[in-house]
Amino acid sequence: MQAKIIRQAWQVLESSVVTYQGQPVGTVAAQDTETAPLNYDQVFTRDFAISAFAFLLDGRPEIVRNFLETTLRLQSQERQLDCFKPGEGLMPASFKVTCDGSREHLVADFGEYSIAQVAPVDSGFWWLLILHAYVRTTADRAFAERAEVQEAIRLILDLCLISRFDMFPTMLVPDGSFMIDRRMGVYGYPLDIQAQFFAALRAAMDLLDDNDPTSATYQPVLSQRLSNLAHHVRTYYWLDLSRLNQIYCYGVEEYGPTSINKFNIHPDTIPNWLMDWLPEHGGYLVGNLGPGRIDYRWFGQGNLLACAAGLASQEQTGAIMQLLAARADDLIGEVPLKLCFPALADQDWRILTGCDPKNRPWSYHNGGHWPVLLWLLTLVSLQSGHQALAERALKAAERRLSRDDWPEYYDGRHGRLMGQQARRHQTWSAAGYLIACQLLEDPERAALLPVTSLHRAPGWLSCAKASVT
Ligand code: GLC
Repeated sequence: MQAKIIRQAWQVLESSVVTYQGQPVGTVAAQDTETAPLNYDQVFTRDFAISAFAFLLDGRPEIVRNFLETTLRLQSQERQLDCFKPGEGLMPASFKVTCDGSREHLVADFGEYSIAQVAPVDSGFWWLLILHAYVRTTADRAFAERAEVQEAIRLILDLCLISRFDMFPTMLVPDGSFMIDRRMGVYGYPLDIQAQFFAALRAAMDLLDDNDPTSATYQPVLSQRLSNLAHHVRTYYWLDLSRLNQIYCYGVEEYGPTSINKFNIHPDTIPNWLMDWLPEHGGYLVGNLGPGRIDYRWFGQGNLLACAAGLASQEQTGAIMQLLAARADDLIGEVPLKLCFPALADQDWRILTGCDPKNRPWSYHNGGHWPVLLWLLTLVSLQSGHQALAERALKAAERRLSRDDWPEYYDGRHGRLMGQQARRHQTWSAAGYLIACQLLEDPERAALLPVTSLHRAPGWLSCAKASVT
């Protein structure tokens, strides 16, 4: 039975391949013939990352290399601010191949065509992670060391390391700038972005050519930023029962460097659902942190990516897996994995989503379940010795995925219903499933994925204090 489902998933992935001048260069997001494609017929950078990992683990690097070369040419090279033009170094959210007569053209979208015109902060991060995975699986370092590739890496780094009006090591972004690409109250310092930022900086450290004098100047900057970022997230984003108790008893309006409640969090912000929900053992990284603000929601991708990349400490990773096991009904559900928990409802939904009907409670980004995340769940489960958890989740999901034609997402508190506006034949649902199977079949493959550096943590990272209370 499983072999048949795996074959089906490969068919979905392979039939999504897009060619340019006779070469495979990417995969479209979905091939649902029953709904209007909008931009789902384009090659999204974040969606392709998952396809790329599946192809690389299967020993097929060609499409990945072509994708990297193609997007390298599309990367924005103009210095811009506002004017609805992308800033220098930005990687496209997506691109498509158009034809006029027999001539093919590449058309990039940096968010200027997308609904609500959101620029993708995550595209450059995914690009670095794809490049890193390519180099790890093929050992083709010469590709990464080409002058134009080094230049592309530096442009991405310049764009995300630039100092603006900020004092935190975390990265400040607008709402909807990553996988959650609609308004969802994920502006400021969302965990998903911080985890990707961290993973991408680590990849960049490894990819920069030390023999290239310009590239070499980035190393100390990266190392410092990574250390500060790890310290900040591990210390201030961490939440477990004893930390919750600390926040509950916080004094406020503390002035000066000795303040304990650094972000002036008012205990009244603790939501009612959290008090009884948080188990005795286990914890997680909160969704967002800024002045006077903790977003207490759980975000699946951010937490798992933080574990995989080593942003969460080993103890924290263990505690996050404990929480996943203890609250599996809420966080894993029938088809893994809940993107965010709990859903925004009522007035919160009105204010934070702008009354977005696609993101009504327990649907889509707002509490829906995303099978693409199976790859991350499996990866972290293997890294932390919880293989059985991933196996159970995969078993529960695979029949539904195959029966429902690989939908984009599921709705409902436990993910029992197929998403109301979900595309079928969604490429990353199939690719995410395939990676999970590839990893379970041979756990050694985990070391080839770009986000996995836990076992090789450099000295400075273990110095970044972890807090598991
Ligand atoms: C949706 C998702 C986004 C994804 C795109 C293509 O807009 O929110 O993360 O990249 O679909 O699948």
